[in-house]
Amino acid sequence: MKPIVSEGAEARIYRTELYGRRILVKRREPKRYRIKELDSSIREYRTRREATALARARSSGASVPRLVGVGRYDLYIEEIKGKTLSSALGIGSGATREAGVQLAILHNAGIAHGDFTPANLILSGKRVYVIDFGLSSLTTGSEERALDLLLMKRQLSRAEYSSFIRAYRSNAAEGNETLARLREVEERGRYQKRTLSNI
Ligand SMILES: Nc1ncnc2c1ncn2[C@@H]1O[C@H](COP(=O)(O)OP(=O)(O)O)[C@@H](O)[C@H]1O
Ligand SMILES: [Mg+2]
Repeated sequence: MKPIVSEGAEARIYRTELYGRRILVKRREPKRYRIKELDSSIREYRTRREATALARARSSGASVPRLVGVGRYDLYIEEIKGKTLSSALGIGSGATREAGVQLAILHNAGIAHGDFTPANLILSGKRVYVIDFGLSSLTTGSEERALDLLLMKRQLSRAEYSSFIRAYRSNAAEGNETLARLREVEERGRYQKRTLSNI
């Protein structure tokens, strides 16, 4: 298969053609450090989970790439033309706001992303697309939702996070509950740090 677009921690992304359409293949490659049987079931499970979450996200109106097909360890997906928020120099407040709206749509549909970071968000024109759903969960509570927020809080500047969270809060059905949980999670983190530094 054709040129590699990206070689991530988890998967390799290739460019190919299907029925004359240019698309991407996301292939989860074997990891040698895992026991073979366990490795193939993890790759298979994450591939299926990503496909299911992508389909649910799309039907909920979130901006995600179209899913074209699924193999055992492969996803065939639409290529989004744009730049990841992690590679964009100085993320504009329009993009962070849009990221907040997208996360609210996902949470409202019962999807927690599991790895909601700027590297998994693609800015395309004015839209922000969410990718990389391999760690998502569909039976979610406020803890999983709060962890999605925490990842963004850690990676965005104060100003960026503030426009992100404002948009999230005004679009998320259970925003107040999730933000309360976020404070709890952060408090737990601070407590553990204090305790550990006293040992
Ligand atoms: N649908 C897509 N359109 C455009 N670029 C993509 C798409 N899917 C993945 N990529 C690119 O490939 C990279 C890795 O893909 P990702 O799904 O995040 O896999 P990984 O699990 O390895 O992080 C992304 O950060 C992005 O640059
Ligand atoms: Mg990724």
